[in-house]
Amino acid sequence: MNFEEEMKKRVTEVKGVIAGCLPQEEGFQRTLLEAVNYSMLVGGKKLRPLLMQQTYVMFGGNRPVIRPFLAAIEMIHTHSLIHDDLPAMDNDEYRRGKKTTHVVYGEAMAILAGDALLNLAYETAAKAFDLEPGNPAVGRAFQILAAKTGLDGMIGGQSVDVECEGRTLNAEQLGFIYRLKTGALIEASMMIGAVLAGASQEEVETVSQIAANVGMAFQIQDDILDVIGDADELGKATKSDEKNHKTTYVAVMGLEQAQRDVEQYSNEAVRLLDSLPYENEFLRELILHLIHRKA
Ligand code: IPE
Ligand code: IPE
Ligand code: MG
Ligand code: MG
Ligand code: MG
Repeated sequence: MNFEEEMKKRVTEVKGVIAGCLPQEEGFQRTLLEAVNYSMLVGGKKLRPLLMQQTYVMFGGNRPVIRPFLAAIEMIHTHSLIHDDLPAMDNDEYRRGKKTTHVVYGEAMAILAGDALLNLAYETAAKAFDLEPGNPAVGRAFQILAAKTGLDGMIGGQSVDVECEGRTLNAEQLGFIYRLKTGALIEASMMIGAVLAGASQEEVETVSQIAANVGMAFQIQDDILDVIGDADELGKATKSDEKNHKTTYVAVMGLEQAQRDVEQYSNEAVRLLDSLPYENEFLRELILHLIHRKA
């Protein structure tokens, strides 16, 4: 398997599904629709839909029912980024290589575009009920999507993240924030893939642990790149955490330990993946590739 080629193919596929779920830019609310599409189409790695799709495939899934969820998770993620970049939160000017939504469309429109995407995500995911009426896995997947986004998930994590600006945190407190603000959507992605493919409860539990490890590694690497990354390559400014007086994993553990921990969390994810009686070489490679990502 040529990983880079496979990756390109998969990302193109996922982007096609997402594009098919985006609104037409027409009507009196056209500016809002433009802001939504601008945020969704300007780039991004599409990691969460990729993880969802690959987990689905690993458990033998091959039906269109996954598609609305692929788009929905990216919509929720993009909503989180639009709001994360707002002046009231991280106040960042660049995202995915372009000006942030509030810089281009103004703050009010960016707040609304974020809200609209969060709502569109559920509207989109709900289409899966029409695709497979009577399949209880669809309802379960929908519940996971909602729970992992909310108070005990991404939004809850973001709230503690902003509340703790300027405070000194220990590794345990940081771990709590990272598991929620970043881990939760990655967990949702992989768990939904597993649930829709018909994985057992025990398997879904293992998948959630795999994803939790990927999520921790991913956010620690994000912190590392905020310090030593290249803004052009990242498509967003570096030193955002310092600017916002955030205690990061790098600040608490030091750069080298942080790098070792990214590796350790990723290796643990792969160990758990290997413990399942299914195989997906691409998914395995993807998790390992993220250790050394530069963007
Ligand atoms: C950025 O996520 C926010 C974090 C959770 C660290 P990504 O690095 O996946 O952002 P995109 O989607 O590729 O832009
Ligand atoms: C973002 O954490 C987590 C979410 C958006 C939910 P960061 O604030 O570190 O993400 P970036 O660095 O702006 O992408
Ligand atoms: Mg933030
Ligand atoms: Mg940020
Ligand atoms: Mg960051």
